Amino acid sequence: MRKRLTINSLQKMKQERNAISVLTAYDYPSAKLAEEAGIDVILVGDSLGNVVLGYETTIPVTIDDIIYHTRAVARAAASTFIVADMPFMTYGASREATLTNAAKIMQQGGAQAVKLEGGAEIADDVKALVKAGIPVMGHIGLTPQSVHQLGGYKVQGKLDKDAQRLLDDALALEAAGAFSIVLELVTEPVAEAISQKLTIPTIGIGAGRGCDGQVLVYHDLLQYASPYFEKKFVKTYADIGTTIRGAIESYVNDVKTGQFPAEEHVFQPHTSSSTTSSLYGGAAGQPNSPEQGRSHEQKNGVPVK
Ligand code: KIV
Repeated sequence: MRKRLTINSLQKMKQERNAISVLTAYDYPSAKLAEEAGIDVILVGDSLGNVVLGYETTIPVTIDDIIYHTRAVARAAASTFIVADMPFMTYGASREATLTNAAKIMQQGGAQAVKLEGGAEIADDVKALVKAGIPVMGHIGLTPQSVHQLGGYKVQGKLDKDAQRLLDDALALEAAGAFSIVLELVTEPVAEAISQKLTIPTIGIGAGRGCDGQVLVYHDLLQYASPYFEKKFVKTYADIGTTIRGAIESYVNDVKTGQFPAEEHVFQPHTSSSTTSSLYGGAAGQPNSPEQGRSHEQKNGVPVK
């Protein structure tokens, strides 16, 4: 079993220019497969609101949703560093609530760190969490919990003043003790400049090639959605949605045509069993009544062969 990374090893990866791979996961099989594939960090993102729960935004995601999904991920990925998102308004309103909610995610969910969206305005919360022993990943650029404030899912840092604000936010988070920062939908030069200025690793999503690591949403990487909307910043590595739909269509067809279950999927009694023999009213496994002897074709009026 490999050793779980730590915030120190992630920092070392930046120093050694060893790119950090991050993927979201939300349940046992996705986390297990991610760990087996060698992912460095799993993020239980509040994107689960969009890709698993079917919400339009991440805003309805609750702390209980995050804890429920983080527990499943933690059961599956015992050797992977797990970061869990703090959902909308579970931090920032009061210091006490921020600490209590982060503690809940760590204790009940089993994450090794939490992620918060925001820059300089949440730096004091980050400081308090770090002081309490909770590792914090920052998240700036496009922050989906503020989608209505930002006026949509737009690329950030296009104007000089926005680029400067992003850099100031990143420096404030680093000074507050964040161990890493996600840069989402940030122009490549700005993300690269931030990555060079910081000593902690940046993890990009739609932020170009100059970050210290990359994060993708599990369902984007695999096109596990219907309909799937292509995104410029995503590279998809498989079309699982089409594969799953096709497989289910085949199953439906097999059930309707009697091709499933087939001989290899059914259980037969021991021929010597007197119980089953009497149950069937004759030789075990040999239906002898007209009802028992009916083929699937006769039962459903569907041709079997
Ligand atoms: O919730 C999430 O999945 C995220 C990533 C997109 C970084 O925050």
